[in-house]
Amino acid sequence: MSKKIVVITGSPRKNGNSFAMTDAFIKAAEERGHSIIRFDAAMKKLGGCHACETCYSTGKACSFDDDFNTIAPDILEADAIVFSMPVYWYTMPAQIKCVLDKIFSFVVGGKDISGKKCALITCCEENDMSVMDGVRIPYERSAALLKWQSVGEVLIPGVLNVGDIEKTDGCQKAAALANEF
Ligand SMILES: Cc1cc2nc3c(=O)[nH]c(=O)nc-3n(C[C@H](O)[C@H](O)[C@H](O)COP(=O)(O)O)c2cc1C
Repeated sequence: MSKKIVVITGSPRKNGNSFAMTDAFIKAAEERGHSIIRFDAAMKKLGGCHACETCYSTGKACSFDDDFNTIAPDILEADAIVFSMPVYWYTMPAQIKCVLDKIFSFVVGGKDISGKKCALITCCEENDMSVMDGVRIPYERSAALLKWQSVGEVLIPGVLNVGDIEKTDGCQKAAALANEF
């Protein structure tokens, strides 16, 4: 059955390693009939959560003028959310962290976003799987709290420069992830 999948990316490198995996996932998902809405956080105007707890009081998710408001309705409606990002300083890039922080608006606004599927695509330079813990653990714990079912993780170490992902099976694994929705 066709699913609505929101793909949220975190890299500012349009031709980089996580974008290559994202593109492979999207191509495979669309071939399976899923509809994809892509949100490239690094190309948006996003700020951190102000913890004002006025979310949805004026109708929009975030009370501030923030591009999160352009994707919030799609996240609410989506069957699944896919997060794709590189590791920056042993954690997630700031731009996509702003999106994760603002998912708090659904909690404050009393929106039911439970029951979605989710998945993670990530990569890093160092050849050590534990380097991705700073992305993987917040993803897994947030999914559990939100009552989302994680259907897969593509974790690719050892990629630094643009194109390095082609020397790995990252894009194949990202494409195979599309079978899980
Ligand atoms: C600001 C910054 C911080 C980074 N921090 C780490 C790090 O802590 N550990 C690591 O292994 N790689 C780190 N990297 C390397 C990236 O994770 C790696 O180059 C990755 O392939 C980039 O993915 P992209 O092409 O999708 O942007 C960092 C890169 C940048 C630009």
